[in-house]
Amino acid sequence: MTRQMKLMTLVCAALGLMACGSSSGGAEGSSGGEAAYAGPIASTDTAAGQAVYETYCNTCHPDGGEARGPAIRDEHESAAIARQQVREGGDHMPAFPESRISTDDLESLLAYMVTLGAVQDTATP
Ligand code: HEC
Repeated sequence: MTRQMKLMTLVCAALGLMACGSSSGGAEGSSGGEAAYAGPIASTDTAAGQAVYETYCNTCHPDGGEARGPAIRDEHESAAIARQQVREGGDHMPAFPESRISTDDLESLLAYMVTLGAVQDTATP
């Protein structure tokens, strides 16, 4: 399903169809769903990712464990879900816009989260 949605997103982007967004929305919620965040992890820089993690995430998920936030270690979330969680936040988790965590830093962060087992390794699409 995720793969199909990703394909749709790519096709829509390629054709520039304005209607695509609304046709795939609906049940996924107001954000348009995780499809907007799909794609392979675009970095292998786990050291940079660890620095980002320690700056923004570690207080609530210390080394992937539980504190103010739940344990995320060994959750093996998809990269799309993890991107969405970081960008949009959640119940008592703040959102981190691009002004705080750049696109490059987010990808490095995901690469580091793979080493925690928090995110599935999707380096290959
Ligand atoms: C102020 C505390 C706080 C900070 C900072 C924070 N989180 Fe969270 N996080 C939470 C809480 C609370 C939840 C549970 C609520 C939810 O799922 O939306 C959560 C949920 C998550 C989840 C989903 C866990 C699951 O099992 O569904 C992921 C993944 C996650 N956080 C990653 C991160 C990352 C990566 C960062 C740093 C960019 C971060 N968090 C920063 C508090 C925080």
